[in-house]
Amino acid sequence: MGALEEAVKILKQSSHTTAFTGAGISVESGIPPFRGENGLWSKYDPIVLDIGYFHAHPVKAWKVIREIFYDFFGKAKPNPAHFALAEMEKRGLLEAVITQNIDNLHQEAGSKKVYEYHGNSQRLLCPKCRTVYHPKEVDLAHLPPRCKNDGEVLKPDFVFFGEAIPTRAAVKAEEEARTADVFLLIGTTGEIMPASLIPQMAKQNGARIIEINPDISAFTHSITDVYIRGKAAEVMPAIAGKLAGKS
Ligand code: APR
Repeated sequence: MGALEEAVKILKQSSHTTAFTGAGISVESGIPPFRGENGLWSKYDPIVLDIGYFHAHPVKAWKVIREIFYDFFGKAKPNPAHFALAEMEKRGLLEAVITQNIDNLHQEAGSKKVYEYHGNSQRLLCPKCRTVYHPKEVDLAHLPPRCKNDGEVLKPDFVFFGEAIPTRAAVKAEEEARTADVFLLIGTTGEIMPASLIPQMAKQNGARIIEINPDISAFTHSITDVYIRGKAAEVMPAIAGKLAGKS
């Protein structure tokens, strides 16, 4: 039996499947991953996403953040992998998505239960009065953007290096890791803590691990049970189609 067929068989028997996604699921939406040859960190210095640097140099940090996350990523659209997960949820075949991505593409594709482990770039937050703005409501031509109520510098509502994981997402992700019988790992290197602990916890609690990635990751030879080598936007619709009995 091929890996894809084996994955479909496991998914059909599952009563609680959870997806855990990383930058790789958005590559076919035109968003480059962080690591690897053409990754964002080969072009930009990750220091701009360090919380201490952001507070000390808001204009410098915002210039790069605007270029990466708003000028560029802002135009990305969900791809067939995001839609396949949304369809699986709608059909009762997927419980939730835990995502490390901050691009909002799962929600745009129609996924309802999405735990944003690293926050979301489509919200800008005033650290003082907690007002939340959509990026379109804010003048990003003049940096740094400021809160209309109190003039504080707005911060993208995603997790910077040196910041804690949002409490609700952390709690919900652990709950999924305790209760899921299948974890679908899609497009993640598994190199970033504490996110990478979630699939490990799921495995320890008895979940079967299905991984989709064109390259091996830190999970492949440690916790993965079924490895499907391939691109998310090709493999996920094939899986969703077979689950729906379309092929
Ligand atoms: N389909 C599926 N996976 C892919 C594809 C594709 N088309 N293209 C690349 N990948 C895989 C890569 O092989 C790699 O394993 O996606 C993964 C992307 O890895 P990273 O860029 O490290 O992304 P991720 O694991 O999500 O990073 C975790 O690191 O910097 C932080 O906060 C950031 O959330 C991010 C975290």
